[in-house]
Amino acid sequence: MTSTKLVVGAIDFGTTYSGYAFSFAHDYEKDPMKIQANHWIGGGHMSLKAPTTILFTPEKVFHSFGYQAEDKYADLAEEDIHKDWYYFRRFKMILHQKKTLSRKTLLYDENKKALSALHVFSSAIKFLKDHLCNEISKKMTEFEERDIFWVLTVPAIWTDAAKKFMREAALEAGIQSDCLSLALEPEAASMFCKLLPVDCLKHNNSTSTEAFKPGTSYIVLDLGVLRKQEGIVREIDTLLLVGGFSESEIVQESVREAFPNKRIIVPSEPGLAVLKGAVLFGHNPSVMKSRISKYTYGVESISRFVNGSDPEIYKVFENDCYKCRYKFCPFVRAGEMVPVGTVVQKHFISDTFDVAEGFGIYGSTEKCPKYVVDESCFRVGTVYFDKPLQHNTVEMRFGETEICLQCIFESGDKKTLDFDFLCT
Ligand SMILES: Nc1ncnc2c1ncn2[C@@H]1O[C@H](COP(=O)(O)OP(=O)(O)OP(=O)(O)O)[C@@H](O)[C@H]1O
Ligand SMILES: [Mg+2]
Repeated sequence: MTSTKLVVGAIDFGTTYSGYAFSFAHDYEKDPMKIQANHWIGGGHMSLKAPTTILFTPEKVFHSFGYQAEDKYADLAEEDIHKDWYYFRRFKMILHQKKTLSRKTLLYDENKKALSALHVFSSAIKFLKDHLCNEISKKMTEFEERDIFWVLTVPAIWTDAAKKFMREAALEAGIQSDCLSLALEPEAASMFCKLLPVDCLKHNNSTSTEAFKPGTSYIVLDLGVLRKQEGIVREIDTLLLVGGFSESEIVQESVREAFPNKRIIVPSEPGLAVLKGAVLFGHNPSVMKSRISKYTYGVESISRFVNGSDPEIYKVFENDCYKCRYKFCPFVRAGEMVPVGTVVQKHFISDTFDVAEGFGIYGSTEKCPKYVVDESCFRVGTVYFDKPLQHNTVEMRFGETEICLQCIFESGDKKTLDFDFLCT
């Protein structure tokens, strides 16, 4: 799908720094790199992203974001009246660390006071969204918010639950779901680098001429906040350095020393690669042809019990024969290359369990999980059928940045299903 909106606005929600950028569809057609980002002023200098810092009043009302939040909090602290305010810094990765995530998840601020995580995230998104809209309305008369297609960046490592949480936070911030795509940060960065003119790509000590010729295998190193970078780099010929730390010559030099046999490419403005790439992604998401599934996804099925193989405790008697519950019936497998838009359909006749407990959609870190209750498995969603012995089709769409689940009932009715992640 290519956005048909007048503007693409991207919000890059970073661990330490966040920002937005946008471009107009008519500009994109002529020059895709004509992307505008805001200049944030604070701490005596100007930057293209603002600190991911947010301040709420003692009444839990949003007060400020970025440098303004930092300055206000410093003033409050100076007068020692800061303790009742809610001040959050670097709160993004909490979504990855939390094993269970729900609408009720709390975040703890600098003074260990709790506030709804959804409120914190949506307030931050809302601030950046309103700022962007305000900027655009200065440039474009008769501009309306619905003219914008939104892109929100998320780390590629995030779980489906964390992505769903961000979508929920965006909705709360006033961004309609059908006007929003989530972009995976390394993908966005690579889209940006691929479009850069060669003289903006620094390859070792010279500029690169054939940085992205077809067949090049590369890995994106996003050096935002220094943490252990793991990965298989053996089969890769090129390393693409992006993120704030990649601005540093010392960092670039140490990566070159660590990987003497690789081509190291650093784009100009590596700290903005994700943000600007997210804008490009919004204009043309179909550039990505396929993605590798991180998990095996499938449904719970009930099938003939195999003596000696299936555990006795899973045995049930139904329709005149013994069956095994909890069998994992996979749609796609972990590590599998999945073309964008892949739709997998499975037909089911609902049984009494499906009506009572719902029909489970599961994920697993294993390539070939046997039962949905195995340790490697987690429940993704639930489908509820009205009555047993109905013929239904469960359809899952893969290969995009988020998975999508739909159920086609016997009656022909279609229902897009919400996932379980945020239900608790
Ligand atoms: N010229 C520079 N030299 C060294 N470090 C820099 C430079 N410019 C920015 N940084 C550092 O880069 C970091 C921010 O990078 P970036 O904006 O890519 O992170 P982020 O997007 O917030 O993080 P992430 O993407 O991991 O969530 C900061 O810690 C900042 O100090
Ligand atoms: Mg980043």
